[in-house]
This record gives sequence, C-alpha cells and structure tokens, in this order.
Amino acid sequence: MNIIWHSKSKQFHLYNAKISYIICVTPVGDLGNIYFGKCIRDKEDMSYVVNRFGLSNVAVDADTESYSMELNRQEYPSFGTTDFGTQAFETEQSNGSRVNSFVYKDHRIFAGKTALTGLPATYADDKEAMTLEMQLEDEVAKMSLTLSYTIFEDHPVITRHAVFTNNGASKVMLTKALSACLDLPDQDYEWMQFSGAWARERIPVTRKITAGSVSIESKRGASSANQNPFIIIKRPNTDDHGGEAIGVSLVYSGNFIAQAECDTFGRTRILMGINPDRFSWPLEKGETFETPEAVIAYTAEGLNSLSQTYHELYNNNLVRGKWKNTPRPILINNWEATFMNFDEEKILKIAKKAKEAGVELFVLDDGWFGERDDDFAGLGDWIENPKKLPQGMAGLARKVNALGMKFGFWIEPEMVNPNSNLYRRHPDWALGTPGRKSSLGRHQLVLDFSREEVVDHIYGMLSKVLSDAPISYIKWDMNRSLTEVYNIDITPQEQGTVYHKYVMGVYRLYEKLRNDYPDILFESCSSGGNRFDAGMLYYAPQAWCSDNTDAIDRIRIQYGTSFGYPISSIGAHVSAVPNQQTGRNVSISTRANVAYFGTFGYELDLNHVSEEEFEEVKLQIEFMKENRELFQFGRFYRLRSPFDTDQCAWIVVSSDRRKAILGFYCLRANVNSLPGFLKLAGLSEEKLYVIEDKEYYGDELMNLGVTLKTLFEGGFALANDFISCVKVIEAKE
Ligand code: GLA
Repeated sequence: MNIIWHSKSKQFHLYNAKISYIICVTPVGDLGNIYFGKCIRDKEDMSYVVNRFGLSNVAVDADTESYSMELNRQEYPSFGTTDFGTQAFETEQSNGSRVNSFVYKDHRIFAGKTALTGLPATYADDKEAMTLEMQLEDEVAKMSLTLSYTIFEDHPVITRHAVFTNNGASKVMLTKALSACLDLPDQDYEWMQFSGAWARERIPVTRKITAGSVSIESKRGASSANQNPFIIIKRPNTDDHGGEAIGVSLVYSGNFIAQAECDTFGRTRILMGINPDRFSWPLEKGETFETPEAVIAYTAEGLNSLSQTYHELYNNNLVRGKWKNTPRPILINNWEATFMNFDEEKILKIAKKAKEAGVELFVLDDGWFGERDDDFAGLGDWIENPKKLPQGMAGLARKVNALGMKFGFWIEPEMVNPNSNLYRRHPDWALGTPGRKSSLGRHQLVLDFSREEVVDHIYGMLSKVLSDAPISYIKWDMNRSLTEVYNIDITPQEQGTVYHKYVMGVYRLYEKLRNDYPDILFESCSSGGNRFDAGMLYYAPQAWCSDNTDAIDRIRIQYGTSFGYPISSIGAHVSAVPNQQTGRNVSISTRANVAYFGTFGYELDLNHVSEEEFEEVKLQIEFMKENRELFQFGRFYRLRSPFDTDQCAWIVVSSDRRKAILGFYCLRANVNSLPGFLKLAGLSEEKLYVIEDKEYYGDELMNLGVTLKTLFEGGFALANDFISCVKVIEAKE
C-alpha cells in the first residue's frame, strides 16, 4: 500500500496489491480521475489520459481553450462551468450564484485514517491504511473543500468523504454535498440495487445502465427497507464467481441517494451520499460541513469476492469494542411468543425452558414499560410497568441471571405515542410542522432527535434503567418513517438541516450509551430491516434482518443481505410454525439451517414445541456453539441463487480452508428431475475433504461438485418442498 505524489505531473497514485486509484490535478486546477481498477504499475506521468481537444457544442475553459470537464472524468464535479453531468455538490452563495470552481491548493499524505466528527466511519491504524487529504479552494465563493481518500493495505477499498468550509464573511448555503463521485471510462455496466419493503428486504435487482441515469434513494429519514444504501456496478458477465465489479456502500443511516449516469461521451458517473432533496446546510463564516463516508470496493474476481471485502472490512474496521469479531450469544426473544401480553412469571417460564436447551441470553421485547399493553400507548415512558415487572428490570434480570443466562431488552428510543406521559408533558418534542396535523405510523410519532434536549432526556431515562440492572444486550428498534419534518427551535433557513441532525442525534445517543456500557451488545432494528446499513454497524454490530421469520422467505432476504453485509451482522432466529407472517409450515431443522447463517437464536416459546423438537433444538444449539465462529466470521460464498432457481446454497470456509459448512435449501420441489451437481467454492484444491465419511478432493468439489444425492439420503428427496441440509466439510489432515 502506498500513496505517491508525482509533483511534476501533479498526479496521485493510491495503490495496494489489488487496486490502483489515480487522480490528477487537471489543466484547470480541479481534480480529475485517471484510473480506478486492478493494480497497475506506477508511472510518473499519465496525463495522456486527459482529453484536451474541442468537440462541437462542448464548452471549454477560457484560459486553456482546450480543456472541457465534460470530456474528462471528474473526482468531485460541480455544475455551472464545463460539465453538464449531475454534480456531486452545490452551494448557493450570497449573491445567488450556484457556480463553483474549486482549485487544488495543497495536500497531506499520512499513515492511518482520521475519524469523522459525530459520524460513523471505518477506522484504521497506521499499518492498515494511508490517507490522502487534498485541499481545494474557490476564491470567488471564499470556500475551501477537503477531499479525503483512504486506501487499505489488506482490502481493495478506497473510502472517501468531503469537508466544506466557508472562509468568507457571508453565509453560504450548501444544498448538495455527496460523499463520492466516481467517473468510469465506459458504459458497459449493470447496476445492482437491493430493494424491498417491510418483510421482504434487500432483494437484488439488476439492470443494464444506458444513456441517461438511474437512481435509488430514501426520503424516509432512515436508510430504509425500500432501497439499501449499497449498490454494485458490474460488468454484464460478472457473477458470484468471476468478473469485474465495484461496490459503493454509504456509512450512513438517513436519507440517501445513489445514482449512475451514462452521458453522451461514454462516461459513467456513480454518485452516492446524503439525499439533496430536503437537505440544505447554512455555513456561516468559519463553519464546516462534513459528509458521511462512502466505501468503494473493487473486484476482478466476482461478486463473492466483493462481498467478502465488505464482510472483512466491516468486521475488522467498522464494528468496534467488545463484540468485534466475537461470536454472538445464542438468544431467545419473547416477541413472537407473547407479543406484549406477558408478566414476569410467563417470561421466566420461557427463559427456564430456553436455558434447559442451552440458550445463553434472554431478550425481553416490547411491552415492559409505561402503559404499553398494545401499540397505542407507552412509547416514550421508559419506566418499568410494575404489573409486568413487579421488581423492575433489575429484578427480572437478576432472576434470569440466576438461571445462568444473560439478559437484555428492547427499546424504541426515537419514538413517542400520543398516549404517553412523555407526550402529555412535552407535545412539542415530537416532529411536526406548525399548523399541520402530524401523520401517525404504528400509532406513534417521532421524537425530534435533531434537538439536543430531547436526546438528553431519553438518555437520562434509559441510563436509569441500564444502571440499575445487569444488562448485556439492547435491541434498539425504530418503527416508522419521518414525516412533517420540522424543528421548532431553529430558523426557517435552517429547516433543511433537520433530517441530517436527526440522524446525528441518533448516533449521539448510541455513542453515549456505548461509552457508558461498553460491554452491552447492541442490535439495531427498524421494523426488521428498515435501517440495515453500514452506519448502524459502527454502533450496533448486528441488525434484526427482517420481521419476516419464515425460513423460506428468510433464505432470499439473507441471501440479498449477504452482498453488502457480514453474516455476523444478520439477526436470524428460529420462530414458531405456522409462520406468523406467511402461514408456512417449515420443519424446525430447516428453520435452524437458515438461522445458523446469522446471529442465531429463537423467537418462540420452547415450552410449546414437541419433545422430539426440543431434543433437536438442544442439538442445534450445541452445533451452533461449536461452529458459530465459522458461521459468523468465516469466508462466505453464495453458490446457488434462490432468485434464479428453486434452490439456494451457500458455504462458509475457515481462513485456513480446513473446515467449511455448506447450507443447501430446496424452496420448491422439482418433480421428476435429476438431483444434479452443486459446485462448492473457497476450498483448497489439493486438500482431501470428508463429507459424512466420504472423501473428496477440493478440486473435485469445486469443479465437478457434490451431487445432491450425497447431501440427501435417498437422493431424490428433493421432491419435498422446504427441505434443507447443513453439512460440515473437514480436511482430512
Ligand atoms: C418491530 C420489530 C419486532 C418487534 C416489534 C415490537 O416490529 O421489528 O422484532 O420488536 O417491533 O413492537
């Protein structure tokens, strides 16, 4: 890994063993892109890449009379001079002008990476990464711009973000400030996005990009289940096992936009950052604005390798604290077992049985506080309901601890029900626009987390419960989108800051609680997977993946999630059948076979399963305890897509390739068909592996494959819907 500055040609080359990223100072002084892709040899001068000739109807710079931004690849383009593509940023200056020309002034190259202020970001020590910070200035607008690029030693990754500063006496309005722009030299790409809704999150959608633009966005205040802030730009022939692709992941949990634009001169522009819609940020003299971070990864080896880059980077350089790379406790959650209808006795009965099965952590879900017997009341009153918890959270936690289990509970700190003491006391704390009614979502309103006093108050209530009781885990939920967004404490000109300040408020509360209780394992949740993003992983290393706990639907949801997020982050539980969302009956073995590829736990009352199933549950827990490190932190490969076939397969492989675990799932029976072969991946070609007493070479398993006869006794049992198997594959010596 290195960052070289060629002072004569004014070019920067950031590279490691896998990638090169080459930037130049252009003939007009701003920053242009020369190359991004597989590592290439360093060269003093690559300015031959820069186009300096006129084409009809193209605007050129007045001094050079030959350079047009439109005919070159930009690093952080503005609109208003010679580029007509979508701009990465926009300002409105005091004279009404929106034209900017930022010119390179200086730079700094250093080992490691600096933290962002109040925002989540990847981190690295001096050996793991190097950073290039370039300083640009717009002398007319009296603004400076810092563009930061970090390259990692062990990952084909560049992270980027931008910082704007107003150096002038008059106010400047920042109306768009994306995290990154990546101009690519051709247009032979497909775009992949991960779309969905509640209970069907992160479904991969692929389309060819062509003249014009394609974009996804969130305007819901959270990153959303509808569109995830992660995209892949790939060559049309790229699949999981080979080919070029670029991923862009935004380390942010609020409104975002991701866009690809193909212009008429063969350039593809990729943009990602805070959604400029409903965003405007006033900068007074000396004030700065820092964008969130975008994580750009490259592969020439297929989408599995791209996903593995994100898995490893996020496990090692985004997740922090005690739970970083630590196998997660097997938990039981009472939500689907009781909903809000419980008391201490009922909870202890569930906990006792779970303990007998080997479960390690009990999670008390919604309904323990205020007057919360249904979802019409109580949110905001973070005080135990004595009818349900006569000795408070502390009493119950101690009783669960006495059984030999850890204890945790559910919160939804950003919300308030109109029927709550908090709302009756502080109706003005809920987001709302003066003179208009406030829309409801799940009978609740959103607290204005852009206001410090609101966040501080909620912190006070929560820290009271937390400091009284031995708490090991928190599930932090967020169950509605933001509407009528308005902060009554600030000026009309500042209203464009509220969405972002809200997210910063959420991050602030997370950070405070994490600092006070560093051992607590946080799981984020937002009606399931409505805020499953890289920003959240900085605070909560795992996220409840979906409220849809049906194993067959979960195969698709977890498969889609695996493109951008580590298996250790995917909250996955075995729930009761018939499933509450789909009504499907799936065996307890298939339900566990899906949940193993996640954080693993149970979301049911084990008192209500048959004796036979209970014995199976005990074995499942034993198996997960033995293998959870491999499941959660092994190298994960997708093998067969549940979107292209009626089957799904994936495998996790240990770093020394001596052990792997294969998951195979039949979503729908294929009558009268041969079982066929499944090619494995990630094994060592030379090693001899054992799968259930039979021996196979690695090259055999990866090129010929295993026949499904080997996986299922009786071979043609694939005539059954919803059957599955999980097989341990171990090297012989
Ligand atoms: C959301 C979560 C669920 C559960 C309920 C409780 O829907 O996703 O897991 O916690 O809230 O109200």
